[in-house]
Amino acid sequence: MGKQRVLSGVQPTGNLHLGNYLGAIRNWVEGQSQYDNFFCVVDLHAITVPHNRATLAADTYTVAALYLACGIDLDHSTIFVQSHIPAHSELTWLLNCLTPINWLEDMIQFKEKAVKQGENVSTGLLDYPVLMAADILLYDADRVPVGEDQKQHLELTRDIAARFNHLFGQKDEEILKIPEPLIRTEGARIMSLTDGTRKMSKSDPSELSRINLLDSPDAIAKKVKRCKTDSVRGLSFDDPDRPECHNLLGLYALLAGKTKAEVAAECADMGWGQFKPLLAETAIERLKPIQERYKAVMDDRGYLESVLRSGREKAEAVANRTLSRVKDALGYSKPL
Ligand code: TRP
Repeated sequence: MGKQRVLSGVQPTGNLHLGNYLGAIRNWVEGQSQYDNFFCVVDLHAITVPHNRATLAADTYTVAALYLACGIDLDHSTIFVQSHIPAHSELTWLLNCLTPINWLEDMIQFKEKAVKQGENVSTGLLDYPVLMAADILLYDADRVPVGEDQKQHLELTRDIAARFNHLFGQKDEEILKIPEPLIRTEGARIMSLTDGTRKMSKSDPSELSRINLLDSPDAIAKKVKRCKTDSVRGLSFDDPDRPECHNLLGLYALLAGKTKAEVAAECADMGWGQFKPLLAETAIERLKPIQERYKAVMDDRGYLESVLRSGREKAEAVANRTLSRVKDALGYSKPL
């Protein structure tokens, strides 16, 4: 039996941060040899909210280069850009026509983003999960690594695929493969440095809330120095009233590659004055090799382009096969 297929993607909205790395990309890298992986930069999703046209292309390349810098290995994985493969848009349209609109109106992320967007909510924002379903279903993905916030979208993907198969498959025929989530046991949910109850996020207006993968050592040291703490003596994971303490210890454990128990013992008697420089130093050291590889990739534009070109060729062949299967099932005539 061949390897199971994994598909995932990250939006090219600016710089990736430690939450993206420790919560997602690090896991892709660790598990990649067990699977046949497709990792895309989801630049079509990036325009579901107002975007910056001057930086979209550069941000897309940055994320692709960061995939490589973080250790995505082309022997096991295919890296490509979503917008380079028209099948993503086309399958989205076809799936739109069998997705009840109230399924989309019920999505928590849509409701939250729509509130933030105020007057200017696009149809694309509502349709975002159908595009994500198309990303997944085009590749017959067996597994999709998802964090808490994307679980509902994966559930919707499964519902759309099941509905399609039911409506257009001949007797239980699986035209679209129903994907399963890939959930890691040691789930890493990295919280903001300025509020331990909120997720570290690209859309937080404060730069101090996150450590970006490409931050300089000085910037990292400054952000750690200024991050929110509390005035309790001794550091522990266990106090529910100390979300910042929990988050920072967890961050340190992940960056240092230590277990929670090891960190709890190491830091039990520390004050923040001792812990913060340790955390900063650990983050700087952990990011250094990623930043060096990133620079090497970016200095060789031809290499990066060749990675994305062969990624597109490989991905497109798979995507187009699925798309024709879907169009056949829907009853379309063949293009002449
Ligand atoms: N919506 C995902 C996020 O914001 C990104 C995404 C788009 C994705 N298409 C995907 C993730 C397909 C997994 C599979 O995190």
